Parts: sequence; structure tokens; C-alpha cells
Amino acid sequence: MRQMRVAPSIMCADFLNLGEQIAIMESSGIDFLHIDIMDGHYVPNFTLGTDFCRRLSEHTQITLDIHLMVERPDTYIPAFAAFGKSVLCIHPETSYHPLRSLQLIRSYGARSGIALDPGQPISAVTALLPHVELVCVMTVNPGFAGQTLIPGTLDKIIELSELIDREGLEIEIEVDGNVSWEYIPKMIEAGARILVAESSSLFEEGEPLHTNIERLYKLIGR
Ligand code: DX5
Ligand code: ZN
Repeated sequence: MRQMRVAPSIMCADFLNLGEQIAIMESSGIDFLHIDIMDGHYVPNFTLGTDFCRRLSEHTQITLDIHLMVERPDTYIPAFAAFGKSVLCIHPETSYHPLRSLQLIRSYGARSGIALDPGQPISAVTALLPHVELVCVMTVNPGFAGQTLIPGTLDKIIELSELIDREGLEIEIEVDGNVSWEYIPKMIEAGARILVAESSSLFEEGEPLHTNIERLYKLIGR
């Protein structure tokens, strides 16, 4: 089984000490930086943007895992695909032609992915699966950190994992939302291979980041 990979959600990081936190993630071998982009339309919230991603990509070699929670993503794909071999995940329902959006991501040299809102069935996206390297299964409603896992979303990871195996697809499953100490083992058992670790684990209050990274690596056998 491929090694578990970790994608800290930067919207939950300590923005006032971000350089220090990035250095800790680099020295710890963190695999991705999960960057939540919100437009206040697809989700009722705002977070980070292209200038933030540009500064980050100039500062670190860690791959950016960019989660586009925006309407009409084609408008923004060229700007967000400009940061090295980043991964760009779109919510298919935000594009009139999601397959063309995924092709657009790849045409700009980035890796393509889809993010599934808890209300989006896998059956609605099977035609897109041959065009992605990553599927982000959201276990909370998109838009906010600090939410609780929605029952039934772990079964969705199992369903997707079984489909990927059955069809022999080269797709990694990422899980995003309430990736907590309690849920991480269940998420891995269900088939998740990339953990978007945020407020309920890596950036959990009370412990320094490096302690939480060590705890997470121990939990996932890394
Ligand atoms: C929510 C974002 C998540 C968010 C999850 O829309 O996609 O990445 O940071 O954070 P927690 O762990 O608090 O659910
Ligand atoms: Zn996210």
C-alpha cells in the first residue's frame, strides 16, 4: 500500500507565524499544502487567493493542493495552475462543463482533481474519473473549518475506493473535513490515502505543530 500522505489545511494555520510553520512542515516531510480558495458565492466564505499562493510557491517546494470552492472555475484555473506542479481540485457542479475544466487544468501543466460535496453522489461523477489523479471526498459541508463529520461520508470513501479498484483507475482519495485523531483510522480503513489535516488534528489548539505532526505520523504508521 502506498504511504499515507498529509496535506495540512493552511486556512487553519497560524497566519502570524506561517513562515515558521512552513519550515516545520518542510523539515517534517509534509507532502502537500492544502489551500482552500473560497469566492463567497459557491460557499458563503472567503479565505486565500492567488497572491497568497504565489508567495507560498516562491517560499517553499511543498506541492500546493489547491481546493477551488469557486463558481465558474475556468476563469481562475490559469492563475492557480501557475504554481509548479500544483494539484487543482474543482467541485464539478461549479462548472457548466466539468470535463473541459479538468482538461483546462491539465493543459496548464497542473494535476487535476475533483472535490465531492457531501451531497454529491459518486454516480454523478463517474464520467470524470478517467480525467483526474485525485478525488477529494468532503466529510463536511464546504466553506468552514471546525465542523463535525457528516454521517455516511465514510461509506462514500469506501464506495469510491471499491470503484477505483474495480476499474483499475490511477486515482488517490483525499479526505477533507474533521480529519480528527478519532476519525483518521476510520478514514484510512475506508480507503483515504491523503489526509487534509486541520483544526481537529494538526492545528489542534494546545499542542505545538511539530508535536501534532509526530502524533499524526505515529497514528498513520509513517
Ligand atoms: C472546508 C475546507 C477544509 C477545512 C476543514 O471547506 O475544505 O479544508 O479546512 O477544516 P476542519 O478540519 O476544521 O474540518
Ligand atoms: Zn479543503
